[in-house]
Amino acid sequence: PEPGWTVHADVVVVGSGIAGLTVAVRYAELVPDAKVLVVTKDVLGAGSTRWAQGGIAAVIDPDDTPAAHLSDTLAAGAGLCDEYAVRVLVTEGPEALRWLITEGARFDRGPDGELRLGREGGHRRNRIVHAGGDATGVEVQRALVEAARRRGIETIEHALALDLLTDAEGRACGVTLHVMGEGTRDGVGAVRAGAVVLATGGMGQVFASTTNPAVSTGDGLALALRAGAVVRDLEFVQFHPTVLWLGEGSTGQQPLISEAVRGEGAFLIDVHGERFMRDVHELADLAPRDVVAKAIMRRMRETGADHVYLDARHFGEEKWRSRFPTIYAVCREHGIDPAAEPIPVVPAAHYSGGGVLTDTRGRTTVPGLYACGEVASTGVHGANRLASNSLLEGLVFACRIARDLARPRPLPGEPVPDTRPHGLVDPRVRPRIQAHMSRGAGVLRSEESLREVARFLMDARWTPVAVAPGTDAWEATNLLTVATVLTATALARKETRGSHWREDFPERNDAEWLGHLDVTLDGGMT
Ligand code: SIN
Repeated sequence: PEPGWTVHADVVVVGSGIAGLTVAVRYAELVPDAKVLVVTKDVLGAGSTRWAQGGIAAVIDPDDTPAAHLSDTLAAGAGLCDEYAVRVLVTEGPEALRWLITEGARFDRGPDGELRLGREGGHRRNRIVHAGGDATGVEVQRALVEAARRRGIETIEHALALDLLTDAEGRACGVTLHVMGEGTRDGVGAVRAGAVVLATGGMGQVFASTTNPAVSTGDGLALALRAGAVVRDLEFVQFHPTVLWLGEGSTGQQPLISEAVRGEGAFLIDVHGERFMRDVHELADLAPRDVVAKAIMRRMRETGADHVYLDARHFGEEKWRSRFPTIYAVCREHGIDPAAEPIPVVPAAHYSGGGVLTDTRGRTTVPGLYACGEVASTGVHGANRLASNSLLEGLVFACRIARDLARPRPLPGEPVPDTRPHGLVDPRVRPRIQAHMSRGAGVLRSEESLREVARFLMDARWTPVAVAPGTDAWEATNLLTVATVLTATALARKETRGSHWREDFPERNDAEWLGHLDVTLDGGMT
């Protein structure tokens, strides 16, 4: 659609979680005269960051080392991490965290004033910094929103980014936006900018049951794909082992039961009360996330049950209330007293391990387009992300992007008219996409189940209905785009590795599959 209005900025950041706001605030610090504009689909605090419970992994304990954090991250990543990117993550993490603290983030501290460090799956040391017990994301988001306001960073809320604008050389020079209810800026407009940063988070809403909020519809991934950017490793969707089981067929955002609960000594039992993780992995209930999610699915099959339990009765009410107040309150809201009974849990879609391919300065394959946070594939997560490395990634690579943006860089020219055909998807298809994806491309996948999903997605794409342009239709279109690429990569990777579990190829196959799947919309898959 033709933009009805245009605003200008030096840099436009799309998304307002830890990644987007950190880029904006750091860039504003480094280049105080520049204009950075943050656009966000809902209100500033609505994305995934505020839902993070466990925390931020960082080497803080004097007995911990970047080498140990590196080794745990590589082990979880099941052979597909980019070791250099992980080195960047673990060595620059503590400094980035200190920056966040100077910006006003208040993390939990012990009586000695030192940061309290929790433990989560796959970590062999206590290195998870947290806030409010289990409300880390809320505090991080609060601190960054206030930091952005202190610096007078301009924002446009309720603005869905539609497409990248590029100049005649193919360099990013802005985005088109659909703004809802901003009065003077209603409808479709454009931001013209010298560089574009995608920080739109994940795509959990592509599945029927997810820890992600309703806004996580893969908008940045779809935008990048339409712009010709390379997207990597989309088949690696991480399923969090423990969300609160709300009964058969419960859909949408599900309450997370943080891994930090297991880090404090909770353990999984099946419906017969039997512990099952000790025979599966040397770290038992604190094994990497993919191992735990698979073990739960297997145990559910063996027992014919649709959930297992997380037992932390031994914490007692006082510890529950002080260490995990959010989770305690959510359980009580649903009629469960975790100090008196085990919590029913199941796995749900949690995190997109792949994303828009970037280098360690956050640059994508489209000049002038950066990606940061969950939407990006920096190489730090490999086939399975280590717990609490995601907020850390957002923070560290956002700081790097801000530094890169502050360097002299070529400026783009005028945007060339967009001649691509844009078919919109009927928003009523959304729940059907989600149901198909969960059934056929979820925790368990096979050639047969994936082909069935691919057929459905192809039909959904071509259904000839007149669709009114609006957020619902664009979100459905984005979901269909990312679901299609995800299903294609999941079909192509004929092995089981990390969070990608093929029932028909149950083994990891390093001889053939120790590589990545890169996709562009026009160029196919390599
Ligand atoms: C959790 O608290 O279990 C989630 C942490 C993460 O996804 O890294």
